[in-house]
Amino acid sequence: MPAYQDAKRVPLIEARSISVTRQGHQLFKEYSFKLYEGDKLCLSGPSGRGKTVLLRILAGLDAPDSGQVFFNGMPYTTGGRKQLYKSLNWLPQRVCLLADTIRAALVAPFEVQANLKLKPTEAEMRAALTTAGLPKSALAQATQSLSGGERQRLVLARALLLKRPLWIADEPTAALDKTRTLACTKLLLEHAGTLLLVTHDPHLHSKVDKVIELPDLASTPQSGQQEQPQ
Ligand SMILES: Nc1ncnc2c1ncn2[C@@H]1O[C@H](COP(=O)(O)OP(=O)(O)O)[C@@H](O)[C@H]1O
Ligand SMILES: [Mg+2]
Repeated sequence: MPAYQDAKRVPLIEARSISVTRQGHQLFKEYSFKLYEGDKLCLSGPSGRGKTVLLRILAGLDAPDSGQVFFNGMPYTTGGRKQLYKSLNWLPQRVCLLADTIRAALVAPFEVQANLKLKPTEAEMRAALTTAGLPKSALAQATQSLSGGERQRLVLARALLLKRPLWIADEPTAALDKTRTLACTKLLLEHAGTLLLVTHDPHLHSKVDKVIELPDLASTPQSGQQEQPQ
């Protein structure tokens, strides 16, 4: 039985009855969502529906106006978010790099105390760049000169180095050409034990367990779990 149909398990991530308003528009009203370990799910919906807003809430970066989000049954607000961050590879839609060079961007997550022992070698960094489709000679290159697609590939390389089991990715292939999209898709599916992503890529839609269309507020109650598996 696919994990998302197994009601007895505790979800890895659960949003329970969340409501969210942005710029005067209510995007979610008492919306519920569950992601189980091993799931590969895709969120879909037209531009402006709230896909990024929801992903950022599930990734612990923003909070809902009401309702709660849980990691392994623990509310984000009382320790769940901290636990989430030990497992999460977050691939944002718009990559903001604070580091000056590719090398600095790759090692940044390993400079915090908890990750010091996991710091990759130069050879591992070069290998991750190659796997993500960037030249392995690029370590000293300035991040300022990178295109949107190259930034996405750099974040992908960093995620490969972090080796975390849960991946949340917001349109990770949006700035990539067709060949790179296929390569990136393959990497995501291979390396993410649990995957939640937003993509308009039909190839990826066909590869995940389920595509959840985010309902607009006309259809209530909202719940991602009411969608049928593909
Ligand atoms: N930080 C924010 N402040 C104000 N409005 C926001 C913010 N983030 C998103 N919005 C608004 O919320 C709506 C949904 O945005 P978003 O989740 O980015 O849509 P999409 O489904 O295209 O990813 C949009 O109307 C957007 O303008
Ligand atoms: Mg978006």
